[in-house]
Amino acid sequence: MIKIAPSILSADFAALATDIARVEAGGADQLHIDVMDGRFVPNITIGPVVVAAIRKRTRLPLDVHLMIVEPERYVPEFVAAGADMVTVHVEACTHLQRTLAQIRELGARAGVALNPSTPPAALEFVLDDLDLVLVMSVNPGFGGQSFIPSAHRKIRELRKLLGTRPVDVSVDGGVKADLAKSIADDGASTLVAGSAVFGAADPAAAVRAIRAAATAA
Ligand code: DX5
Ligand code: ZN
Repeated sequence: MIKIAPSILSADFAALATDIARVEAGGADQLHIDVMDGRFVPNITIGPVVVAAIRKRTRLPLDVHLMIVEPERYVPEFVAAGADMVTVHVEACTHLQRTLAQIRELGARAGVALNPSTPPAALEFVLDDLDLVLVMSVNPGFGGQSFIPSAHRKIRELRKLLGTRPVDVSVDGGVKADLAKSIADDGASTLVAGSAVFGAADPAAAVRAIRAAATAA
């Protein structure tokens, strides 16, 4: 069963609780929260206080995507704020295995994100240390960009590399209903969507439309 994770980056930050309630009503499986530091990516978003505020307003699992340098410095704060999954970028981690172990020790699920130019082989020696892989299908930093087609082959190669391990493969960036089926067929188990959900007039309907497209025969 494919999971849909709306990214709040495209939500109305002044009415976040309302927007979250909308996607919950649409059957969203988890919430994707983009944390940017203005260093790893050229944009700044939110920190642990906002994650803690969201935690009080929803029962959905919180999938926190850290687009920050030295993520190990902030992992404990995000877990304490209520993150269920913490994803770090392989490009931002000098000691990736240690950081993944740190996330698991704190009781969260450990994720690694791959920039579009990073090959799946970067994960070869941490395959048993991770619970999810986030394949970036845009260069991280902004919502509303176009899906980079090479992500299709990357998802397929990643699935081969993961073998039978029960690891989630999540795809983030430019995901719209019309791409959902091909991404799911490649082997993705979670679709992250920001502008396709919160840019729609009816975000609940948009979540349902992406799921319907992904699971169509
Ligand atoms: C981009 C973020 C994404 C973003 C996706 O750096 O990681 O999660 O919100 O937005 P869309 O779905 O609009 O490409
Ligand atoms: Zn993201």
